[in-house]
Amino acid sequence: MKRMIAPDELARDSRFVRQSNALSTLLSQLPDDVDTVVEMLEKFTPMIEESTRGTEAEPLLDAHGPAFMLVTLNTPIKPGNPAVETQLKLRMHGVFVGEVQALEGAGRSLWDFPDAPWEFKMNMARQCWDEARHVQIYEKLMDHVGVEVGAFAESTFLFECACSDDPAMRVAGVNRALEGLACDVFRDLIRYAEEIGDETMQQAVDYVLADELTHVRFGSDWVKEFTKDDPDHFKRTQEFRKEVDKQFSFGGARSDREDAAIPIAWEDRREAGFSEEELEELTTISAGGPTRDTLLEASRIIRDRWLAKQKGASA
Ligand SMILES: [Fe+2]
Ligand SMILES: [Fe+2]
Repeated sequence: MKRMIAPDELARDSRFVRQSNALSTLLSQLPDDVDTVVEMLEKFTPMIEESTRGTEAEPLLDAHGPAFMLVTLNTPIKPGNPAVETQLKLRMHGVFVGEVQALEGAGRSLWDFPDAPWEFKMNMARQCWDEARHVQIYEKLMDHVGVEVGAFAESTFLFECACSDDPAMRVAGVNRALEGLACDVFRDLIRYAEEIGDETMQQAVDYVLADELTHVRFGSDWVKEFTKDDPDHFKRTQEFRKEVDKQFSFGGARSDREDAAIPIAWEDRREAGFSEEELEELTTISAGGPTRDTLLEASRIIRDRWLAKQKGASA
């Protein structure tokens, strides 16, 4: 079996719709400036349209234009929001494909490093077992909220952080950045489930979150082990994790900012082995990018131009 495969080689059946990773990179690089956000996002209009037509996000595209991604990403999931059902479906679907990629990432970490210690392989095998269960749990949760596989596009940006050929970098990216993001997203889903009194969702996500804490700990332990006696190597893994964390902050949508749609799960992350210093760093890394007001204003301009163009085309 081939070692070290690229994200575009991941196998999917015909239900899945693939979206280019370039978009998540774009989101992580947006500045706090309305005109630039408008200009950068409009460049991606053909790509956004292509990966949205035929999916359940199509009505959102029709109503908001390509800015629908900014609107859905940056609006907290709250009962009573007009688009909350679609937002929840999008989130569930995103988590589901994330779990599939986490399973693939852990499996790859087990396979790609034949010379790694036996205990490392056992930890990765345990993680595969957990992630397979998470895929099944989220498959059921998708049923629970009424969304099907392929209802939205899949971006493989999570798997991208599982492509380093250095095992220390691999666990820094997957087990600390990706699993850390999972902690934030799951804590937020539990919060929403509690708000609407959905015990099934609350308990199911809570079980999954408990596993993710273990996966972060695998990362914390193995980064130290793989880089012991080499402070420079350790520093490089920290830099890589920060880079991935920046990308996973979606321009501040996941951050400690007051306007964040997904807040940082401080308590869970502490329990998972993140140090106070690392958490402070994450706060700084994720705080950059446009404010919610900037994004809303940019979204309004993009939507107005989009609607005018559609009107022009049909006239
Ligand atoms: Fe998972
Ligand atoms: Fe995990």
